[in-house]
Amino acid sequence: MKYNFDEIIDRHNTGAIKIEKCKALFGTDDLIPLWVADMDFRTPDFITNSIAKRLEHPILGYTTPCEDYYKSVIHWIEKQHQWKVDRQWFGFLPGIVPGLAFGVNAFTQPNDEIIVQPPVYPPFLNVPTKNDRKVVFNPLKEINGRFEMDFDDLERKITGRTRLFILCNPHNPGGRIWERETLIRLAEICYKHGILVISDEIHSDMALPGNRHIPFATASELAEQNSITYMAPSKTFNMAGLISSSYIIPNRDIRKRFSEFLENSELANGNIFAYFAAKAAYENGSEWLKQMIQYIQGNLEYVVDFLQKNIPQIVPMIPQASFLIWLDCNGMNMNSNELQDFMVHKAGLGLNKGTTFGPGGERRLRLNIGCPRSILEQAMKQLKKAIDELD
Ligand SMILES: Cc1ncc(COP(=O)(O)O)c(C=O)c1O
Repeated sequence: MKYNFDEIIDRHNTGAIKIEKCKALFGTDDLIPLWVADMDFRTPDFITNSIAKRLEHPILGYTTPCEDYYKSVIHWIEKQHQWKVDRQWFGFLPGIVPGLAFGVNAFTQPNDEIIVQPPVYPPFLNVPTKNDRKVVFNPLKEINGRFEMDFDDLERKITGRTRLFILCNPHNPGGRIWERETLIRLAEICYKHGILVISDEIHSDMALPGNRHIPFATASELAEQNSITYMAPSKTFNMAGLISSSYIIPNRDIRKRFSEFLENSELANGNIFAYFAAKAAYENGSEWLKQMIQYIQGNLEYVVDFLQKNIPQIVPMIPQASFLIWLDCNGMNMNSNELQDFMVHKAGLGLNKGTTFGPGGERRLRLNIGCPRSILEQAMKQLKKAIDELD
């Protein structure tokens, strides 16, 4: 079967955040929304059919995930990432951002320090702060057009109050797939200082051609025994509204503490459709995913080529995974506010403002390319026109 990613689907009046929150965020909804990280592709039919099938039964009572659900996730992780996950290590998680808050509350106290690597997905900064923890920055360095970790800086930043490190693997917004050596070194440092690692691997199924994701916990024994991994079908299969994720914790003591935290707060359950949809995605999703990745790669090549030829003052960081591009707009000679204003009011584009990703986000923007090519073509046309009018 050939899936159609060119189809334009109107998302108005469906509660889509990408559309509904434009006015609040950009001051207008008269723009092409290329921000929130979901895709404008049809959620695959094997997922929507699984929900329709469950609806054929007339009772939607209290529901627990069946063993087949667990089997499907475990099998998927082994097939995708060559990681043999024991059934005991694994549990349902109602969303990864909630999972960040659960991890923060289960393993740290107010005023404890949590290290993150900006520029990074904004909840990594906001969730600890809102929970009265201190966020410590270990900024990523940009070397030869991609992000690298700075371990000297990391070791300098660790204090007696550092309890947690939140890793973005693959990295959002840089699309960086971390190499095994990098993960091994990170695991050593964190283990040595008694710092637990939460590895957010929500983008892990979407390695772009020529790249392979390495789950943090598979990097070394130290990584395996000192980490919590989060994975989900939500980004991969465009089903974020169903709220369905998993945690994987190989170490028994860490797992006990985390699962007790979830159970004591009654946070361990999902909704009926989450289980059925996730199982359907993992059992049937390989071919759809392959075609989706090919389409995204085409979108990436299109945008990179267009910018190089027409707008060299905007330089894309080439992602190794997922459907987001981090744009360096230093060549535009605008500060971050001017840049956002220009994109919204002159180019008619709604992109994520770089500064929301923390230090290193100045004069940067994040562009979502998970949409039909024709929308990107229109966006690039509008951008070029607006830039030409500046001269
Ligand atoms: C790194 C990362 N983690 C988590 C999420 C969202 O996770 P969830 O929808 O399960 O809360 C996103 C969405 O953009 C993300 O990029």
